[in-house]
Amino acid sequence: MEQKKNIVKPAVGKLGILVVGNGAVATTFMTGVLMTRKGLAKPVGSMTQYDKIRIGKGADKQYLAYKDIVPLADLNHIVFGCWDVYPQNAYQAAMYAEVLKEKDIEPVREELEKIVPMKAAFDKNYAKRLDGDNVKCTVVDGQCALPTRWEMVEMLREDIRQFKQAHGCSRIVVLWAASTEIYVPVDKQVHYTLEALEQAMKADDREHVAPSMCYAYAALQEGAPFIMGAPNTTVDIPAMWELAEKTQMPIAGKDFKTGQTLVKSGFAPIIGVRCLGLSGWFSTNILGNRDGLVLDEPANFRTKEVSKLSTLETILKPEVQPDLYGHGNDEDTQYYHKVRINYYPPRNDNKEGWDNIDIFGWMGYPMQIKINFLCRDSILAAPLCLDLCLLSDLAARAGRWGTQRFLSFFLKSPMHDYVQGEEPVNNLYQQYTMLKNAIREMGGYEADEEVD
Ligand SMILES: NC(=O)c1ccc[n+]([C@@H]2O[C@H](COP(=O)([O-])OP(=O)(O)OC[C@H]3O[C@@H](n4cnc5c(N)ncnc54)[C@H](O)[C@@H]3O)[C@@H](O)[C@H]2O)c1
Repeated sequence: MEQKKNIVKPAVGKLGILVVGNGAVATTFMTGVLMTRKGLAKPVGSMTQYDKIRIGKGADKQYLAYKDIVPLADLNHIVFGCWDVYPQNAYQAAMYAEVLKEKDIEPVREELEKIVPMKAAFDKNYAKRLDGDNVKCTVVDGQCALPTRWEMVEMLREDIRQFKQAHGCSRIVVLWAASTEIYVPVDKQVHYTLEALEQAMKADDREHVAPSMCYAYAALQEGAPFIMGAPNTTVDIPAMWELAEKTQMPIAGKDFKTGQTLVKSGFAPIIGVRCLGLSGWFSTNILGNRDGLVLDEPANFRTKEVSKLSTLETILKPEVQPDLYGHGNDEDTQYYHKVRINYYPPRNDNKEGWDNIDIFGWMGYPMQIKINFLCRDSILAAPLCLDLCLLSDLAARAGRWGTQRFLSFFLKSPMHDYVQGEEPVNNLYQQYTMLKNAIREMGGYEADEEVD
């Protein structure tokens, strides 16, 4: 197949990946990349490292790895840095997280020990269960006080600049893998324009400006793509879309699509394509890591709940098929959908998810499906971190700015222009097509819809 002129800038020099948070997901991601580099582990689950995309059709077709279609950053050229509320380096944090066995951490101990978290831009009101003191402060009357939101932005911008210079990076990507913040509903007055958001930051409006927004703002202003791996509102507001356009930087979010929601977005299409009915879907989890502890706080869980609930709505639509999806008992306008997360320390990072799905068939006869996924949260999230970072860096070099819809594949609650009434794509297979087509287009090949 004919390839058009390649319009993507090459991946020259080092790529700095700055991770907000140095917890279970972040350290599993960093350790895995460092181990893979040494040939001591395999990056299983990573699309950029394993997947092959068909290029061309018929006799011409060939299946190529992503790096053979587009210029991706090499794992050997990645440099890691991070911020965290706790001062432990990445080796100590990986040991604390207990996701990986010691034997899978020790070979890269020296490299991990060098990843020492920068002070976090943190406001305890956004994650009450955390009590670390590795936080940015401003000195008032000889005392350490919480910086204003605008001061946070300036300090974070300085961190990014210093890191870039100290490590000789040509590009930076900022990835949020920190705790889920409390729910910040979109506020038209503050979040709809960049000017209003900047004013709110300068006025230190702590209610509407989450610390995560300071990280995102700082990253974009410093010419770095920003990825939101938690369900926080952060870049899912028109003010940030405006900033992404102004700085011509990619943004992606929100919430890594790992365990239960991955299953949901892959399984719900089965019900939809066979025109079976759904009266209820009950999802519950037990989880015992620090993420589970933070989510045990109702205000933090609310952020996650909104994200998790959105998945089904665009796959099984009551307004399109009222007979099939218009009745359950959510006031009988649609199926009943409930999501629960229960903090249960003995399981640590090994989350267990249960799904009970009440479907119905011919003449309304009920049936049930049960799914029990005994997963490992951070093991599922780590490859997503890698793919999201490499593909956001690629998007930046390809001149794609704003919301990267092709990255929806990796995200539980994909960003979309809700102001214009745009709907997110949650169906895993449609998302996969979007991903493949974006890679094809950036590689100078034609997009197509053929399923294979
Ligand atoms: N693992 C998964 O499957 C999965 C899926 C989707 C989303 N997530 C999200 O990813 C995030 C990370 O999960 P985890 O299991 O690594 O949690 P974790 O609690 O182990 O790590 C999060 C870290 O972020 C730090 N932190 C909190 N606020 C911060 C701030 N303002 N600045 C810098 N650091 C800050 C905390 O101190 C903590 O060390 C969570 O928000 C979680 O909801 C995880």
